[in-house]
Amino acid sequence: MRVARTVAELRDMVTGAAGDGRIVGLVPTMGALHDGHLSLLRAARSECDVVVLSIFVNPLQFAPTDDLAQYPRTEARDLELAEMEKVDIVFVPPVTEMYREGSQVSVRTGRLGQIVEGAARPGHFDGVATVVAKLFNQVRPDKAFFGQKDAQQVAVVKRLVVDLDFPIKIIVGPTVREADGLALSSRNVYLSPEQRTRATLLWRALQRGREVYEADGSTAEIEAAMAAVVTREEGMSLDYALAVDPQTFEPPSDAGPPLLVIAARVGATRLIDNFQLTDE
Ligand code: PAJ
Repeated sequence: MRVARTVAELRDMVTGAAGDGRIVGLVPTMGALHDGHLSLLRAARSECDVVVLSIFVNPLQFAPTDDLAQYPRTEARDLELAEMEKVDIVFVPPVTEMYREGSQVSVRTGRLGQIVEGAARPGHFDGVATVVAKLFNQVRPDKAFFGQKDAQQVAVVKRLVVDLDFPIKIIVGPTVREADGLALSSRNVYLSPEQRTRATLLWRALQRGREVYEADGSTAEIEAAMAAVVTREEGMSLDYALAVDPQTFEPPSDAGPPLLVIAARVGATRLIDNFQLTDE
């Protein structure tokens, strides 16, 4: 496994490892790797000849009030895990390498980046799309792997590759959960034991939403049922509980079953989760 800290080093390593029609896979992360990230690395390992992992806590996708400074950074452990997962190249650029002095140009995600999670975190998806576009240009992968855990990020990245013509296949991995349903997240380390117990209500709310959908409930009934699970709990505050179209994040269309999305604060920690309904 080789570690690149500059774009030039990364390009040399990818060029050296690729060629001869070898498939290059990219797994972008912000580090503090957990089993959710590892599941994406395993998918990349099984589908690609060269696996590139990027670890970069992207300041552009954090608001000034967000947890950028506190975001967990565990590089030594991340590199050990990457080695165990047989990653070929790890890209760990410093901020000054990713955003050069005088940088001006960025990607704008439009309405998809401004609604639902984008409304709660203004500028977040523009920051995600900008860094992902840069990583795509730096690594030039054939495939890139993202987790369903961040469903709106998946929708934004899929739009990005279509709208900016990146010749990259986006592979989406399922959400990895704890036994009680809580989706793995680097932010779960912020939760106290009591908050950790409460945090499972996001998953329970999504399951409640599914029950109402399966009983032919309306969108309003599904959303109210999900909200009720979270709002009756002390120490939790609901940001949104919605049924949306999984591609546009607008209200559900007749094109297919909706995606249930939820965001709530447990103490100071903001958690998100989602569940794709099916008609089977
Ligand atoms: P990060 O939060 O580190 O997540 C990296 C990847 O792991 C994302 O694709 C995310 O959806 C996926 N992931 C996180 N938790 C998961 C879980 N429980 N199950 C499955 N996959 C999971 O998402 C980002 O970083 C950044 O926005 C990034 C795309 C790297 C751009 O900066």
